[in-house]
This record gives sequence, C-alpha cells and structure tokens, in this order.
Amino acid sequence: MPTLLQLDSSPLSTSISREMTHEFVNSWKSSHPTGTVIYRDLAVSSPAPLNEAWIYAAYTDPAARTPEQIATLALSEELIGELERADEYVIGVAMHNFSIPGTLKLWIDQIARRGRTFAYRKNGPEGLLKGKKATVLAASGGAYGTGSPAAAMNFVDPYLKTVLGFIGVTDVKFITAGGASRVMSGSVDRAEFLKPTLAEVRAVAA
Ligand SMILES: Cc1cc2nc3c(=O)[nH]c(=O)nc-3n(C[C@H](O)[C@H](O)[C@H](O)COP(=O)(O)O)c2cc1C
Repeated sequence: MPTLLQLDSSPLSTSISREMTHEFVNSWKSSHPTGTVIYRDLAVSSPAPLNEAWIYAAYTDPAARTPEQIATLALSEELIGELERADEYVIGVAMHNFSIPGTLKLWIDQIARRGRTFAYRKNGPEGLLKGKKATVLAASGGAYGTGSPAAAMNFVDPYLKTVLGFIGVTDVKFITAGGASRVMSGSVDRAEFLKPTLAEVRAVAA
C-alpha cells in the first residue's frame, strides 16, 4: 500500500505552502486510492531542540542505552519510523529569513541520526533511506529563481537538497511560489497567483 508522509511547517493558517501541500495530497489520493497519508503539522506540534542528553543517547551504542536514553530518543524513533514507512514525502515550507522555519529544522535535527538515517563508510557518508522520493513545496515573499540576482539568498532549496541527500533521499523536486508578498500586499489576486503553481503541484503529485 503506497504511503505518503505530509509535513507542514508554516505557522500561518492562511499559508500558501499549506495550500500547496493540500493540493498535492488531494491529487495524490486520487491517483493512489488505496494509499495512506501520514500527517505531521510541525507548526502545531514542534519537535524539541536537541539537548545534551539526546546527543549522548544518540551516540551511545544502541545495545548499551539505558531506559532513560531510550525514552529520550522516543520522538526521534517515531519520526524516523514515519520516514521509513512512507514511500514518498511532501514537505510544505515557508521561507523564513532566507531559510526554513525553525520547526522544520528541529524535525531535521531529530531525524538526521547516525546509524539510523545515515552511516559513515570507508568511502564517506551513506544515506540509509533508500528508494524514497520527496517534493518540497515552498512559498517565499520574494522571488529567487535560478539566474536572478536574489538566487544566492535562497537557502531553502540548497539546504533541503543537501540534508535530504545526506539521509539518502536524492530524488527531490522543488516547486516554489515565489513573489507571494504581492498576494499579501493585495497587488495580485491569490487564486490567480497560485493557479500555475497549483497546476504544477497537481502534475507532480499524480
Ligand atoms: C517571519 C517571516 C520571515 C520571512 N522571511 C522572508 C525572507 O527571508 N524572504 C522572503 O522572500 N520572504 C520572507 N517572508 C515571507 C514569506 O516567505 C511568505 O509570506 C510566504 O508566503 C510564507 O509561506 P506561507 O504562506 O506558507 O506561510 C517571511 C515571512 C515571515 C512571516
């Protein structure tokens, strides 16, 4: 049974990236009628930041972990379990200060774990999530298209491409609704602005 993991990270209920993930999931469900969707709203339920206990637990040999250390890693295990169960991921991202929302970074910190999602081999690091694919659906106030002067200020796509690749997810598509500030200012109609982007989203979800 195909399984999709949906992550949302925008804190706003009127969020554009949330509308994009919603569109993606509706299309995905139509083309995968027997599929299951696992949903994580990271803005509503934010993972905890890593602390000293977590880091020591993660770097302790699994066979030697104390019950406290196992409990410390429980959320991390749950989140990694979702990544393992799902065949593909759709990640809604609001650009905040040229990068991803803090809650999404906290999720990444919980799931990027040596021995679970990556390993160091003789020839270098190896991602352990095999055969998965991801679609990143982002919204930004400005436009950061390839070749534009602002492109170098976009740390969303390069960061997510790097970190997803590091854990083994190299099949990643990015769709960005850039220039969303025009919707906020009222100079562009939201539905008109989103029309081509949502069409692109439906095409990749099918
Ligand atoms: C706290 C905050 C920081 C933002 N930082 C940026 C930024 O660095 N660059 C940009 O182009 N837009 C920025 N924006 C605008 C958002 O990217 C834009 O509103 C986008 O639609 C957010 O996605 P969402 O609608 O899914 O929440 C910021 C908005 C907020 C609320």
